[in-house]
Amino acid sequence: MFNLIMSMLNNKSKYGLLSKLFHWLTAAGLLIQIPLGFYLVDLDFDQTRVDIENYHILFGLIIFYVTLIRLTFKLLSPAPNFNDNAFPGQKILAKLNHFFLYLALLIITISGISKKLFNGESLVIFFKKINLTYNYEISEQFYSIHIFANYALIGLISLHILAVLFHKFLLKEDILKRIL
Ligand code: HEM
Ligand code: HEM
Repeated sequence: MFNLIMSMLNNKSKYGLLSKLFHWLTAAGLLIQIPLGFYLVDLDFDQTRVDIENYHILFGLIIFYVTLIRLTFKLLSPAPNFNDNAFPGQKILAKLNHFFLYLALLIITISGISKKLFNGESLVIFFKKINLTYNYEISEQFYSIHIFANYALIGLISLHILAVLFHKFLLKEDILKRIL
């Protein structure tokens, strides 16, 4: 039992099962969610578009809740230590990349939710049905934020994956196994 609990938590050198699950669930979710979002906006207004938008909102809300749970869990079980610095500032760069990845996820999901709500549509958030007064301009501003943060997220994920490759091929260090 004790071993099971310990394997769920992060330790000094490796992520535990829960962090791994959150990480790969989010990555797989985004693999669907980002292309789905871009595909969705070019569709004609018909039932298919409404259905796809409903899936987009469902997956988006799941990613929102997983991110909140993940950040709370991070307080209880801190991330493993980084290995020795390969160059000055390496640790800070890695931390900044992770910080902005979380921030982008929160901005995307909260702006998506706000766009919908200010568009006069209701949403169930934290088991509660929410309605806000219709305001087209605010809704459009949140939509611009939603799009901008998506491009930022794509950039951050690219840097994130490049960093893993940089560690593997130039530093000969397999950091991927820490999270697999
Ligand atoms: C991490 C989660 C999410 C990602 C990666 C994501 C991504 C995207 C992308 C790439 C677009 C297309 C933007 C464009 O080029 O115009 C989009 C559109 C949109 N998203 Fe999201 N989104 C997420 C979560 C959400 C959430 C939680 C909501 C609302 C609850 C939402 C509501 C919308 C809406 C309403 C549109 C516009 C669809 C339309 O024009 O019919 N998104 N999203
Ligand atoms: C093929 C895709 C991906 C690979 C190979 C990958 C790899 C990794 C690795 C190796 C780590 C551990 C870094 C370390 O501490 O040594 C990590 C952590 C992390 N990854 Fe990814 N990742 C991928 C996709 C993503 C995506 C799509 C996101 C989007 C949000 C993401 C967000 C994060 C975050 C936030 C952490 C830090 C976790 C923490 O300490 O709180 N990753 N990733």
